Amino acid sequence: MSMETSPGEPLPFPPGFVWGAATAAYQIEGAATADGKGPSVWDTFSHTPGKVRGGDTGDIACDSYHRYREDAGLLRDLGLSAYRFSISWPRVFPDGTGRVNQAGLDYYRALADALGERGIAGTATLFHWDLPQALQDRGGWASREVALRFADYAAVVGEALGDRIGRWITLNEPAVVAHNGYRTGAHAPGLRDAGAAAAATHHLLLGHGLAAAALRAALPSAADVGITLNLSPVRVAAPADGAGAALERARQVTDACVNGVFLEPVLSARYPEHAAGALLPPGRLIEAGDMETIAAPLDFLGVNYYQPIHLRPGDPDNLRRNEDAPISGISGVVQYQPDGMARTAMGWLVDPEGLYELLLRLSKDAPGLPLYVTENGCAAEDYVNPEGTVNDVERVRFLHLHLAAAARAIRDGANLSGYYVWSLLDNFEWAWGYQKRFGIIFVDFGTQRRIPKASSAFYADVARANVVPPLPDAWPA
Ligand code: FCB
Repeated sequence: MSMETSPGEPLPFPPGFVWGAATAAYQIEGAATADGKGPSVWDTFSHTPGKVRGGDTGDIACDSYHRYREDAGLLRDLGLSAYRFSISWPRVFPDGTGRVNQAGLDYYRALADALGERGIAGTATLFHWDLPQALQDRGGWASREVALRFADYAAVVGEALGDRIGRWITLNEPAVVAHNGYRTGAHAPGLRDAGAAAAATHHLLLGHGLAAAALRAALPSAADVGITLNLSPVRVAAPADGAGAALERARQVTDACVNGVFLEPVLSARYPEHAAGALLPPGRLIEAGDMETIAAPLDFLGVNYYQPIHLRPGDPDNLRRNEDAPISGISGVVQYQPDGMARTAMGWLVDPEGLYELLLRLSKDAPGLPLYVTENGCAAEDYVNPEGTVNDVERVRFLHLHLAAAARAIRDGANLSGYYVWSLLDNFEWAWGYQKRFGIIFVDFGTQRRIPKASSAFYADVARANVVPPLPDAWPA
């Protein structure tokens, strides 16, 4: 546990700390069929009735495909040094394989130029969930072939943008793709197939390894290549007498299931020994050399942190208030959300200490590996008030707490090099459509007007000063 920071103490970040904001192609670009773009699994999924709240789609989203100069200007106005965006694979390969759509590459070159002209370094994510539908039709990530096609795509994009983009992320949150996309069906492609999910797990990881190698071959040697994982510390309730060992075992298994399945292959070339067998790919899918490909050295690890997982004894078949069935499948244990902890508009816990713990743990497990928080932020019920401004006090507080936790983690030895807030703009929040707003900039989806929220001013101040101010005694101030 960290030492608490007294409210009066400003916390500095190291010189050169990267201050960024993040988005993803399908969530902001719109222009779903423009300039030769092919359909992605998210186009298909969002146009399937009942899959996304309100029938929302990313057809228009924030229209950033056309408004990227304005959005680059907003980043500059905030004084941020970096922008994490993702590249839409089906803009580049409309059919998944074969023909390259030059117009798609040109768009990202223009975006990178618009950023560069405003002094903002681009961080490009190759895969933020919008798989070309043509590749889904060939099995998607459940098929090994897709990992090979991902490497082809990485090579083409690396070649086209390597002179303009210095930091590269292969995959965003492969765990969410495998789990929500293939196991529960809440996300595209909407499968409910445990076998396909386990296969997708391996092929996503393999795709990462192959794409990282392809990027390294295409990019200047100074470019950095990494992966972004969603990670959550796992906590257990203080056990009743005699339950301690079982709960600790549940914690280990859950940690292996939610974090280890992707972290250990990447860092240590093996699947975690404690993970539930059902989540792991069958041995016959793991070919000679795969694990070494997956574990090739990274230049950095991207960490998306939203909330920790809490466990307590319980009955998964008879869930009580605030309880969920455990992902580990362990009997006698449930996931739960402790009463009395603040939550966001997603219902997610506000727990900055989880970020602190995670950053220190990773710095211990992977000594010397630079870390970036590639996403952190919260949804809130934002609205434009009669003065025409958006006073998102909850998000200001959320960011304040998490940035203070990040600064404390650095002070205590974490190897954190930068932070990208999720998100620059309110956008298409996957299965929630436009119901959830995560932006530090409000988007009026009727007019596409951007209105910087109070949190953007707070974040810009922190970035400019490279210091987190003391926490006020009470909120809202
Ligand atoms: C993450 C996703 C990102 C966004 C946030 C809220 O899982 O990577 O696209 O939806 O959650």
